[in-house]
Amino acid sequence: MPSRREFLKMGLIAGASAALPIERALALTGTATRAPFQVPLRIPSVLTPRRHAGRDHYVMTMRRARVEILPGKRTPAWTFNGEFPGPTIKARRGREVVVKRVNKLHVPTTTHLHGGKVAPASDGQPLDLIEPGGSKKYFYPNDQDAATLWYHDHTHHRASRNNYMGLSGLYIIEDPEEDELNLPKGRYDIPLVIQDRAFKRDGSFRFHDDHDDVLGKRFLVNGRPTPYLRVANRKYRFRLLNASNSRGYTLSLSNGAPLVQIATDGGLLAAPYPASSIELWPSERAEVVIDFSAYPVGTQIVLGDISEDMADPKPLMRFDVAREEADPSSLPMLLKPTERLMGGGTEREFDLRFNLDNQRWEINGKVFDPNRIDVKPRLGETEVWIFRNSSSATHPMHVHLGRMQVLERSNLALLPSDLGWKDTVRVDPSATVKVAVRFEGFTGRYMFHCHNLAHEDHSMMGQLKVIA
Ligand code: C2O
Ligand code: CU
Ligand code: CU
Repeated sequence: MPSRREFLKMGLIAGASAALPIERALALTGTATRAPFQVPLRIPSVLTPRRHAGRDHYVMTMRRARVEILPGKRTPAWTFNGEFPGPTIKARRGREVVVKRVNKLHVPTTTHLHGGKVAPASDGQPLDLIEPGGSKKYFYPNDQDAATLWYHDHTHHRASRNNYMGLSGLYIIEDPEEDELNLPKGRYDIPLVIQDRAFKRDGSFRFHDDHDDVLGKRFLVNGRPTPYLRVANRKYRFRLLNASNSRGYTLSLSNGAPLVQIATDGGLLAAPYPASSIELWPSERAEVVIDFSAYPVGTQIVLGDISEDMADPKPLMRFDVAREEADPSSLPMLLKPTERLMGGGTEREFDLRFNLDNQRWEINGKVFDPNRIDVKPRLGETEVWIFRNSSSATHPMHVHLGRMQVLERSNLALLPSDLGWKDTVRVDPSATVKVAVRFEGFTGRYMFHCHNLAHEDHSMMGQLKVIA
C-alpha cells in the first residue's frame, strides 16, 4: 500500500482526478500544514439583529461543529452558531442589545460579556448556568464608551476547557464620537483575535485541564493558523484581542515599524501612542493603526511574538501589501479626552500566589468560594487596589463591571495602555501594581479574577459586591 504522501504524489503526477487544490494537497502532506502564511485571514461574520421596540435582538446557539482551522482538516469544536471564533456583534452606544443564548451542547454553560457594563443577572456568572437544552436572555444596555469587548464562557471550574473548545467571540460597541474621528472604518477596521492551540494528529484540540498554563504551539488569528492578509497601501485599524487561555504575547512588526496604539480594553486612548512592541495578556485588547502607505506593493510585513526571543519572533500573521488605494481616513493627534483617576479613598490589597499544599492559585490565601463576598466597593466611588504578585507567573487581573487605571507599577514605568481604561491589568512576576478602580451603573455581585483561565478555574477568583 502506498503511503498517503506517495498516493498523493502519484495522483498529482498522473493528474487524473487529482484536481486537488494545491493548498489542500500541501495540507495533506502533513508537514506543510506547519508552514506559516498558507491560508488567508478570515474575518468573523457580523450578525444582523432583529430590530424591535428600540432594541437589537440576537439568537446565538451553542453547539458542536467541525470547523476548519488547519487546512484540509476538521476540528471538533464547541461553537456559537457553528463558527470559531464566534460571530461578532456590533452594538451602538445607548441602544440595548438582547442576546438569547441557546445551549445545544451536552454541558452547562454561562456566557460573560467581558468589558460590559451590565446587571449581575446578565453578567454570565460562573454558577448562573444554562443547562443543556435550555436558553437564557442576556440584556446589554451598551451605556458605555465605544470599545472592543468580547463574550466568552465563564462556567465554574470549566472556563478553561470551554474557551479552549471555542466558546468566545467579539462584541464591538461603536458611538458617534468615535465615528467623527474618521479613523479607518468598514473593511479597513479589522479584528484580530489571537489564540494558541495544540492539535492532535487528526486535527482535534489537545486540551489539558490543569492549574498550569494551557499553551499550544500553533498560533491562530481569527481561527486560522498564522494566516496572511492582503492589504492596500493605506491605514488600517486592527482590534487585537488576546483570547488565549494562558499565553501572553509581545507583539511587534518585522520591519521595525511602530504599532500605533489608539485604544485599550475600555476604548480610545487620549492620543495615539507609537509603540515598538505591545504586550498583550489573556483578555487584554489593544487597538492599533498600521499605515502601509510607505511600502511598495509586494512588501510583506510579519506580525510576530517576541516574548520568548527578541531576535527570533514567532510569526502570528503576515500583511502583504497587494494594491494601491487612496486613503480618505485620518489618524488625529488627539482621540478622546480621558479622565485620569486619582488615588485616595478605600485601599485594598490582594496577594497573588500559588499554594503548594492544595495546589491552587489563591488571592489573599483563599480559593474561589461562590458563597463568600470578598470586597464591597461603593457604587461610583474610586478605590485603590494593590495587586502583589508573590509568584513567578504573570497574572492578568480582571474585574467585572469596574474600570481601572494603573497608577503605579513596581517594576516598570507606566505603559501607554495604563493611562487608558482597563478591565484587565497584567501583574508581572514578583511585581506590585497599584490601580484606581471604579464601579458604576449597577449594584450587586460580580467577579474579579486572574484571566489566565487555568488559574481562574483553580481557583484564583473572588467576588465583590457593589453597594449603594
Ligand atoms: Cu473575561 Cu470574568 O472574564
Ligand atoms: Cu469580565
Ligand atoms: Cu494567574
